[in-house]
Amino acid sequence: MRAVWLRGVLVVAGMIVLLLAANKPAAAAEQPIAFNHKAHVSKGLDCAICHRYVREQAFATLPTIQTCLMCHSAKMSDNPEEAKIREFAKRGEPLRWQRLYAIPPDAAAYFSHRRHVTLGNIPCATCHGPMAEQTTPPRRALVRFNMDVCVACHEQQKVSTACVTCHR
Ligand code: HEC
Ligand code: HEC
Ligand code: HEC
Ligand code: HEC
Ligand code: HEC
Repeated sequence: MRAVWLRGVLVVAGMIVLLLAANKPAAAAEQPIAFNHKAHVSKGLDCAICHRYVREQAFATLPTIQTCLMCHSAKMSDNPEEAKIREFAKRGEPLRWQRLYAIPPDAAAYFSHRRHVTLGNIPCATCHGPMAEQTTPPRRALVRFNMDVCVACHEQQKVSTACVTCHR
């Protein structure tokens, strides 16, 4: 009797450990500069000024320091985060933005921004949430992405859900 009871407890404890491991959040992103999306987007800047290839290619890309220097080569504010741009440039140091969204390479799934943004006409916010409203860099993705999210929308929009559509 006692052994059976103990085994039950051990199984439950094991399941809790597995659940906790599965839900362990990815490390929070730390960005080199406290970038403010809202301050830029509310001035009318298009997403593609910084995410240059979002309409034309698979990857949107994150901005290099040259993009920031188009506007920030001279002092624009008293914000020390803005001054950092010129400090990085002076040291010749690139901006190493940490990714919030990335399909794990071992999943070998193909995703193209051009296909969804330009051909599918899907707004950024559908997949990335209210990024345009952020005043500091989010430490985690605002929308949790996984295969179920991809497949659910494909089903709804009558796009192929055959495995080879994405796993090529
Ligand atoms: C249908 C969903 C979807 C839409 C719409 C979408 N994205 Fe993405 N985005 C993703 C996914 C999925 C990733 C991760 C892709 C990967 O790792 O290959 C990603 C990654 C990114 C990245 C970081 C990596 C990179 O270089 O691609 C940026 C920046 C980005 N998206 C910006 C945008 C912007 C700006 C828009 C709107 C113009 C947009 N996205 C629209 C799903 C979407
Ligand atoms: C097309 C011009 C343009 C580009 C490109 C640009 N900025 Fe700005 N940036 C501005 C303007 C305009 C403001 C002032 C916004 C305000 O006062 O509300 C600003 C303000 C800022 C601030 C201060 C924000 C705050 O909260 O007060 C920082 C930090 C900043 N930019 C960083 C960057 C970085 C990093 C890049 C490159 C990834 C970049 N900017 C690219 C035009 C630009
Ligand atoms: C002036 C430059 C600039 C503009 C304009 C801009 N972004 Fe960004 N974006 C950045 C920078 C810098 C980062 C990385 C730091 C952060 O997360 O704030 C970033 C990060 C992102 C990410 C996270 C990508 C990843 O996987 O790490 C998404 C999604 C995104 N931006 C969407 C948008 C959308 C949607 C718009 C237009 C509404 C937009 N951005 C306009 C500079 C910009
Ligand atoms: C919000 C809806 C939505 C989400 C989320 C979404 N897709 Fe799509 N996807 C579409 C639509 C709509 C099309 C068709 C676009 C067109 O060409 O008109 C498409 C097309 C595609 C295609 C090309 C299909 C073909 O028949 O050649 C691939 C590959 C693809 N998506 C992969 C993905 C992956 C991978 C994800 C998740 C990371 C994803 N999609 C998430 C709506 C979505
Ligand atoms: C619409 C796109 C899409 C379709 C259709 C799709 N997948 Fe996926 N799949 C993905 C994406 C994106 C990931 C990575 C998810 C993540 O971020 O963890 C993935 C992950 C996986 C993984 C986990 C791989 C790993 O090592 O991380 C397996 C296994 C898998 N898919 C199998 C399948 C099978 C089997 C089918 C057909 C029944 C299928 N997928 C259909 C997009 C898709």
